[in-house]
Amino acid sequence: MKNRETFSSGLAVFFATLGSAVGLGNIWKFPYLTGQHGGGAFLLVYLACIVFVGLPVMLGEFYLGRRTRSNAVGAFEKLAPGTPWKNIGAMGVAAAALIMFFYSSVAGWVYFYLFKALRGDFAAVTMESAKAQFGALVVDPVTPVVWQLAVLAVVAAILVMGVKKGIERITKTLMPLLFILIVACDLRALTLPGAADGVSFLFATDFGKLSAAAVLTALGLAFFKLSLGMGCMITYGSYFTADNNLFATGAKVALSDTLVSLLAGLAIFPTVFSFGLEPGAGPGLLFMTIPLVFSQMPFGSVLLVAFFFLAAIAATTAMLSLVEVPVAYLAEEKGLPRSRAVMLSVAGIFAVGVLATLSVDKGSLLGGYTFMGRGFFDWFDYLSSNILLPLGGLLIALFVGRIADKADVARELSKGSPAAARLLTVYFIILRYVTPALLIVIFLSSVGVIKL
Ligand code: PFF
Repeated sequence: MKNRETFSSGLAVFFATLGSAVGLGNIWKFPYLTGQHGGGAFLLVYLACIVFVGLPVMLGEFYLGRRTRSNAVGAFEKLAPGTPWKNIGAMGVAAAALIMFFYSSVAGWVYFYLFKALRGDFAAVTMESAKAQFGALVVDPVTPVVWQLAVLAVVAAILVMGVKKGIERITKTLMPLLFILIVACDLRALTLPGAADGVSFLFATDFGKLSAAAVLTALGLAFFKLSLGMGCMITYGSYFTADNNLFATGAKVALSDTLVSLLAGLAIFPTVFSFGLEPGAGPGLLFMTIPLVFSQMPFGSVLLVAFFFLAAIAATTAMLSLVEVPVAYLAEEKGLPRSRAVMLSVAGIFAVGVLATLSVDKGSLLGGYTFMGRGFFDWFDYLSSNILLPLGGLLIALFVGRIADKADVARELSKGSPAAARLLTVYFIILRYVTPALLIVIFLSSVGVIKL
């Protein structure tokens, strides 16, 4: 396609891709899932999932995108025209939408909490009032919907500006800032009395607590974290510079993203332990414990603003990449002008996303609507993270490892990469055998067909 935009440098590729990976996953999901599944052992399984499943799939997606310079559906159409493989792309667009429905909801809470922190709402907060403030938010039928809309408006405004002037400019400015803010929060958390308990919780390995469900959760988290299995990295890969070293970009992004998760864990768990709170407090961990503990420490009110500001940055840059999946699809496959594609995507996300927002809690407006014990919010999260992303990842691994022309994959992955020749052999073995085998085993065990 003529006039297709690309990022302007290797640095821009790195920050945009990292901007996609770093998100609420690091700050909201990673801490509470690690907390619920017992800390260090879960972390180790998660790291293994990144290396043996996440990274190989990520490289496969980069290949699909840059080789074809197409959106998630178009990429498969170009490499395997007229075959059902393009449904992987379609499934990706569906998974991106499902994630957006609940992600935009949580991002709305983050924006609201930033606003509340600036307004000084947490000045004299206690355990009860922190719980009460969050409890009131999740059952409120108006406020969270308004903030969800605000988040989507910000994302739309950036995306309308395009790949270079929108995504690239914003991620290059905000990602370094996010890093500085999170380190500032860590310095405070780690110097609190009793911080060591939080650190050892994060790193102590007790494998007794690991169930098959925990392993599936770790796998789903790895996919969610690295924005995989749903065409996001295909779409971003299609904007990469022609000589970008894909192995290096993949490794740098996975490492930096994991570092941000650990830094978030090191800001949260020492604080939680220092104040004698529960690490496995669930999805509310971020919104109840953080305001509570930060408001009780010196410079806490400034740090609280910093913390929710960095969470807002993370949520926004990740959403850019999520919404870009349907935007690129609608613009390229359906011929819509970019601005119309953005508006349509955001309007669709808002229309269904409101269902997630209004069903988070039993007391929410739509909280009574549950199927098999889950409301809309939980279903969107469960279906995308635990089913669609790993399934998409499996199909992508099979396509790149077995259907695509091996020489073609090798050529694309070698561009700008002096060490590629040595890495390729290992890469193909992992992608063809290890990644699919692990994905299938974890899947079967989670549905109870086999016992791990
Ligand atoms: N990686 C983002 C996070 O961890 O918050 C979320 C995400 C973005 C998931 C993009 C999937 C995706 F395609």
